[in-house]
Amino acid sequence: MPTSHCKEALSDVWGRLNNSIIVRGEGSYILDDQGNRYLDFTSGIGVTATGHCHPQIVGAIESQASQLLFGQMNCMLPEITLRYATALRGKTPDSIETFFFSNSGAEAVEGAVKLARIATGRPNVIAFEGGFHGRTAMTMALTSSKKVYREGFQPLPAGVFFAPFPNSFYYGWSRKETVRFCLGQLERLLQTQSSAEETAAIIIEPVLGEGGFVPAPAEFLLGLREICDRTGILLIVDEIQSGFGRTGKMWAHEHSGISPDILTIAKGIASGLPMSAIGASHELMSRWTPGSHGGTYGGGSAISMAAALATLEVIENEQLIENARVAGSLLKERLELIVTKYSGTVDVRGQGLMVGVELMRDGKPDKATAINIQADCLKNKLLILICGTGGNVLRWLPPLNVSEQEIDIACKTFELALENSVS
Ligand SMILES: Cc1ncc(COP(=O)(O)O)c(C=O)c1O
Repeated sequence: MPTSHCKEALSDVWGRLNNSIIVRGEGSYILDDQGNRYLDFTSGIGVTATGHCHPQIVGAIESQASQLLFGQMNCMLPEITLRYATALRGKTPDSIETFFFSNSGAEAVEGAVKLARIATGRPNVIAFEGGFHGRTAMTMALTSSKKVYREGFQPLPAGVFFAPFPNSFYYGWSRKETVRFCLGQLERLLQTQSSAEETAAIIIEPVLGEGGFVPAPAEFLLGLREICDRTGILLIVDEIQSGFGRTGKMWAHEHSGISPDILTIAKGIASGLPMSAIGASHELMSRWTPGSHGGTYGGGSAISMAAALATLEVIENEQLIENARVAGSLLKERLELIVTKYSGTVDVRGQGLMVGVELMRDGKPDKATAINIQADCLKNKLLILICGTGGNVLRWLPPLNVSEQEIDIACKTFELALENSVS
């Protein structure tokens, strides 16, 4: 059967930027079955952090595949999982000593909420407006970045309360005023809707991802840490998109100096193989009753573990965190210059290689221009995504080893697309 017929065998629930059939990936490029080569500044939504098919990752997978594919965690201990957990332990803050492995980001967030509930004996969770934590039942309940993730699926699990995320561009206030307002609203929520005694956890993305690529100010994260320390609420930091060097530090929360009680990680963890994890202290993790959480595959996929171990090595050996910092500054500077041609209001923001360009016209999100730019970039073989509640934020997520030359190509393509879309 010709490959084009296969599309009919796929669910329509997948929204898609383009229907080209991808057959190969090499570094920052992805190739379709017609021989077209696209510069991939999506990294598969932050997954292929070391680029497509990095030779060291492929080598580690090949060599592991001939040794052991799967070692079920409830039956015995796969050596590669022990090696990876130890290596990861060397990369996390002191508060994160031990890990539970799972397969997807949503699964990690689900587990983090279960851990917080069992550890504190409290029922509720506070999340932030505009946040995205996944599409399973509990993680949908924590998600408010767009109505599509909730509409038609309600009622969702109870016990979730939302506080405002400190987005100064959205409020039109200074950073200081925004932080003061948002911490004040959170305190008010604890006084009026979910008391600290009933709140197990506060969950936050240190850089709002799907909700518009907005870094949380350091003062806000420090404020959250102080509230959690004072009240015994656990702080879950969701680094599923922002982790593994993406923001120019190993973890985005390091920009503020806070430590999480529970860390959720996935995406860039294994350069493309499905894997995620929850990290916490020994003390917290010891509060699970053995067997009360788990899953057939979590921790047992030896090839995911090998890919994850190789990913850590590549990040370190190739100084990818430094590259994310330097290349990210270059990308932001270039974008700031280019968008001066745009006649509406624009905000270029982000940390490292997690950069967003928000377009506003007449005080409203300019979704139409964002879509035109994205389509024009695609025509010129550059893949970029859009995010934000208003669908008006161009979202830059190149691989961590992106070169200066690739940033130059992408920026020129973007500049042309912006000129075309406003002319
Ligand atoms: C911050 C954050 N949390 C959770 C998730 C859910 O991860 P997954 O799609 O692997 O379930 C995502 C996915 O985009 C995310 O960006």
